[in-house]
Amino acid sequence: MKLKTFLLTLFIILGITDAGYLTYEHYSQVIPPCKVNRFLPIASDCGKVLRSSYSIMFGVPLAVFGVIQYSFLLIAIILFAIYRKKIFIYWLILQSAIGAIFSLYFIYIQLVILNSICTYCMLSALLSFTIFFLVNKIFKKERFILRLSIIAFIYQKFIKPIFFLFDAEFIHNSHIFLGELLGNSYFKKYINWKFNYSSTKLKQKLVGINFEGPIGLAAGFDYESRLTQILYSIGFGFQSVGTITNLSYQGNPPPRLGRLPRSRSLMVNKGFRNLGAEKTSKKLVLSGVEGFMIPMGISIGMSNNQSIDSTKKAIGDIVNSFKIFEKLKIKNSYYEINISCPNLLNTDVDFYKPENFNQLLQSIKRLKLKKPIFVKMPISIPDREFVSLLNVVIKYKFVKGVIIGNLWKDRKSKLLDKQEVKKFSVGSFSGKPCEKRSNELIKLTYKKFGKKLLIIGCGGVFNGQDAYEKIKLGASLIQMITGMIYQGPQIISQINLELEELLEKDGFKNIKDAIGYENN
Ligand SMILES: Cc1cc2nc3c(=O)[nH]c(=O)nc-3n(C[C@H](O)[C@H](O)[C@H](O)COP(=O)(O)O)c2cc1C
Repeated sequence: MKLKTFLLTLFIILGITDAGYLTYEHYSQVIPPCKVNRFLPIASDCGKVLRSSYSIMFGVPLAVFGVIQYSFLLIAIILFAIYRKKIFIYWLILQSAIGAIFSLYFIYIQLVILNSICTYCMLSALLSFTIFFLVNKIFKKERFILRLSIIAFIYQKFIKPIFFLFDAEFIHNSHIFLGELLGNSYFKKYINWKFNYSSTKLKQKLVGINFEGPIGLAAGFDYESRLTQILYSIGFGFQSVGTITNLSYQGNPPPRLGRLPRSRSLMVNKGFRNLGAEKTSKKLVLSGVEGFMIPMGISIGMSNNQSIDSTKKAIGDIVNSFKIFEKLKIKNSYYEINISCPNLLNTDVDFYKPENFNQLLQSIKRLKLKKPIFVKMPISIPDREFVSLLNVVIKYKFVKGVIIGNLWKDRKSKLLDKQEVKKFSVGSFSGKPCEKRSNELIKLTYKKFGKKLLIIGCGGVFNGQDAYEKIKLGASLIQMITGMIYQGPQIISQINLELEELLEKDGFKNIKDAIGYENN
């Protein structure tokens, strides 16, 4: 690193000298000696190049711009050495890119237009490329951060406002289509190279599963299992498909999805729109022939159908879905049981009652599943009810964890902008309105059962700080959807980068050391 930085500074100083010499020669009206190299297939003719109309821009010799360019590089590197602020590295990266781009253009002019080269100009181009290469080598991580920040800026300022002009469900479906297309193309390798930031500090083995990163896609976004080949490339460490039900469902009557930008939330009224267990399992067999890049979980819920009108029928229906997935030996790493969907037609079945929930887990236990099961918990219930459900969960060893939690139901909540809520007469809410309650319940669960249950925090994660807060309260993993829609697809890698920095700042060697740190 030190040698590379020394070389970088040396090349910058050489650049200043070279451009400075050409500036001096220009104003002294002297053409520098240009040795004709007989091994070169092109003439070395400094006079032709330096006296051409291309050597002047806005009345100023290019050599002067060269001096300015290299001086900026030198100033950036000196300021970084003094203040250690990342902004100077970003400046260095952008400045070196400008140098490389202009050098390409100048080479083109010499080789193609003038058919002559000037050795000093070629030396300058060589120096610019070397500086660009070295800067990108030394500041690899910062380059990544810069790239993601530029993408975030473009997404949030230009792309999102256009998306938000269209119907939310149409945009969601278009993204799924595009994601599936990219996932099945070689382009995903390029996306992975440019987008995916992972770190050994964030890798964990939990309940027998190797999680590449702590951020997973929550159930509900990929309800037709179409994104299993692409999510790894944008930094996700795991993903949940579904929620899938035994019987397929075309979704509740529209509106099924809406936006509440001021509340940083989405209105969700899908009611388990999905293809059904049979069809989904067949798709997953095909897409998972070689296994999945990241741990994939299947979220299972009860069919949203009027015929499922008793607890007994609902349990039979859920158990049947498990049987279907098990029969086809899908290579999923875990299952989720979703007992907390707030948008179902049939309200006669209530798994928030501990006795009903207990019956459900008892029936699933009989299946003797080898894969870990996580329960997706409701958040719009009082602590007492929540703890009663946890007391049922911990009786069953096959339930390895809880996801805290699902959507926010209370439309009168101050966390939602009144004018925005008025636009929707149906549905529950995701995003920021879920965050506070989700964090309270993570804290409560970790205090009571932190040693026995894996906690997956979910609700209102929009950046690394939000994720870190849940981790310090006791969550080992994080799931999200809404943050990605508001911040852009680069947010996953941005969170990974931010988490790594926050861990370093607090002196933690691995994410494991930070879990529950604020709650012990
Ligand atoms: C469009 C959408 C559909 C959802 N569908 C489901 C679902 O089918 N099953 C489920 O368990 N949760 C579902 N959820 C809830 C999310 O999994 C998550 O718990 C909730 O959105 C909070 O996380 P977020 O704030 O990061 O979005 C859905 C959420 C959204 C936004």
